[in-house]
Amino acid sequence: MIPLQGAVFRPPSEADSLILQVTLGCSYNACTFCGMYQEKPFRVRQLDDLRAEIQLAAQQMPWVQKVFLADGDALVAPAKLLASVCDLLQEAFSQLRRISIYASPQALQIRTVEEMRDLRERGLSLYYLGVESGDDETLTLLNKGVSADEMIRVGQRPAQAGVKLSAMILLNSGGPELSQQHAIGSARVINAIQPRFVSTLVLTPVENTPLWADAQCGKWIEMHPVALAAELRTFLAALDLKATIFRSNHASNWLALAGTLPKNQAELVATLDAVLEHPEHARFRPRWARGL
Ligand SMILES: C[S@@+](CC[C@H](N)C(=O)[O-])C[C@H]1O[C@@H](n2cnc3c(N)ncnc32)[C@H](O)[C@@H]1O
Ligand code: SF4
Repeated sequence: MIPLQGAVFRPPSEADSLILQVTLGCSYNACTFCGMYQEKPFRVRQLDDLRAEIQLAAQQMPWVQKVFLADGDALVAPAKLLASVCDLLQEAFSQLRRISIYASPQALQIRTVEEMRDLRERGLSLYYLGVESGDDETLTLLNKGVSADEMIRVGQRPAQAGVKLSAMILLNSGGPELSQQHAIGSARVINAIQPRFVSTLVLTPVENTPLWADAQCGKWIEMHPVALAAELRTFLAALDLKATIFRSNHASNWLALAGTLPKNQAELVATLDAVLEHPEHARFRPRWARGL
């Protein structure tokens, strides 16, 4: 196994991928809810170190088909470094099918479409983006660093480069008060971006974050699972997508749903309507199963 530095995070769909830390930490590191990289100063790693790790991994796991580039916003690394890493991975793993990476709004602001296209040709074909919300008030609470319209502008750029996007939406991020506008605004942004994948996560306070402090003093309110189902219902019903795979399978969700949109949209909305009508029959995940 190649050595990993500090706590490492990856999307659920990268469970069987080789993880390569092209960067450490997050260059932005200011979202009010995110404690993932607080104790890890941001830096871009040296190509020589990455080369050595790729060679080691190729000796130990020559069968690797998927590689995920970490940490939190690895797409901010210089395009030249990312291109070299992709080339080294292609040389090292003959069965390589896909390289993916965590983007961020800030990373998408600095990467040109030409750079993204060049990296796509070298195999970097999927970005994960924390859209979190499409509502400006909610985005301000989260301190995401961009408005909804800017999120649309940067979120549309991967497709222009032939890169697939997986967008994450954070339920409960506006609390009960902003719930409906958060759901409607998020659907507007997702409709404008038309990502290949969209998933929901449920905002969960973690220690040493501004959100944790807000939760302690009652400024941020944890919504009941039924209220979250209502938020998700509004979001799903307002989506107007051409071909997107939807999942709410991240551990933080109370309800695990999945489907292709628009094909399964009516079914998913009906499932949530049934939950809202008869919450006593709903198959909510127990709190312990959510890792909380
Ligand atoms: C490691 S971050 C990478 C995303 C990327 N840096 C960006 O901002 O686009 C992955 C995602 O985890 C989720 N996440 C982070 N902290 C969370 C929390 N406290 N509760 C729930 N989800 C959280 C957010 O959706 C975030 O976008
Ligand atoms: S959500 Fe993404 S951009 Fe925000 S602090 Fe976490 S890793 Fe960084």
